[in-house]
Amino acid sequence: MNEAIRPAGAVPLQSAAIPIVTVVVPTFNERDNVVTLYKRLEAAFKDLPWEVVFVDDNSPDDTWQVVRELSRTDSRVRCIRRIGRRGLSGACIEGILAASAPYAAVIDADLQHDETQLPKMLALLQSGAAELVVGSRYIEGGSAASFDKQRAGASAFATEIARRLLRVEIADPMSGFFMIRRDRFEQIAPKLSTQGFKILLDIVASAEGGLRTVEIPYTFGSRLHGESKLDSMVALDFLGLVLAKMTNDAVSLRFLLFAMVGGTGLFVHLGTLFLGLQLFDLPFTEAQAIGAFAAMTSNFILNNFLTYRDQRLKGFAVLRGLVAFYVVCSVGLLANVGVAFSVYDQEPIWWLAGAAGALMGVVWNYAISGLFVWRKR
Ligand code: GDD
Ligand code: MN
Repeated sequence: MNEAIRPAGAVPLQSAAIPIVTVVVPTFNERDNVVTLYKRLEAAFKDLPWEVVFVDDNSPDDTWQVVRELSRTDSRVRCIRRIGRRGLSGACIEGILAASAPYAAVIDADLQHDETQLPKMLALLQSGAAELVVGSRYIEGGSAASFDKQRAGASAFATEIARRLLRVEIADPMSGFFMIRRDRFEQIAPKLSTQGFKILLDIVASAEGGLRTVEIPYTFGSRLHGESKLDSMVALDFLGLVLAKMTNDAVSLRFLLFAMVGGTGLFVHLGTLFLGLQLFDLPFTEAQAIGAFAAMTSNFILNNFLTYRDQRLKGFAVLRGLVAFYVVCSVGLLANVGVAFSVYDQEPIWWLAGAAGALMGVVWNYAISGLFVWRKR
């Protein structure tokens, strides 16, 4: 606004306090690391106006409380405490969207990334040389010395797959350390998956080659305190992301897992039926009913551990979920038989009718149990 027409008494712009860069730090059980990271950020940025947004998924170790304390002494520090949600990617997305600066960086809380690179990353963005700057372990000058053999191999393998299948060109698309123009990020954000942890890969793949990217080397250090949150399930997350990006979100890994679990249910059903008939001499109807319950129960348990592991039901909710799952599947069975019957009525080909019914059943079960059994809280 022009100074001359500014209404009398209006608050003058506090331009000194407006940050040029927002650092986003996802945290889960990092209480012993956040203060150290904050101090190092302060040292790294010196006189540059910056801010930091910690995005904490309600850590049991109360990381958010430590951040809250910090934010009461320094207004550049903010804390987003998310309840009922877990996930590195989702946390980063929310943090960047909460940024007020034109540039946003993502860095881990455990000091494995090199925060002294941040001013250099910022300069590259400000000069217009890049829209995205990636801290890379796999270019000349970078390294991941703290990786054990197994993790180094897995990381290299995933990088290769991303290159071939998603045509992602950068050397280290699995990096969790980068800085991006916020306006570019906001354009891409609606396409991103909030599940999983491959936020950078997702950004690059979703931008469809449209992001001018520069990689700068850094050394991936060792964790200061606490332990890594990534387990062997990250391989599944990675597959899911590749699948979704390749098919333009048409195929989700969740649906494939759900259908595969359904397939195992068939074996459980037949096995139980066999035992009931042969071993316990049950009448067929009873053995069949027990078989169906056994299959639904094992499907529920597998889905709870695999398909919906990020929203896993625990404690009393397991019982409530199981009962809801029985109800959903029973209706699914009616839908299955109904569709099979009407197909058979039109075209008496048994396998076509059977397959159409089964497909209807699995789609129904998947859609409805996503709403009522593993609903997002
Ligand atoms: N809010 C939130 N929610 N934060 C999380 C979650 C979550 O579910 N899971 C992990 N984090 C935070 C951690 O607290 C940490 O600050 C950061 O995300 C990285 O998690 P680590 O558990 O330290 O991961 P890592 O060191 O094994 O993996 C790192 O290196 C990979 C490259 O090999 C991460 O930077 C990955 O993003 C990166 O791909
Ligand atoms: Mn780490």
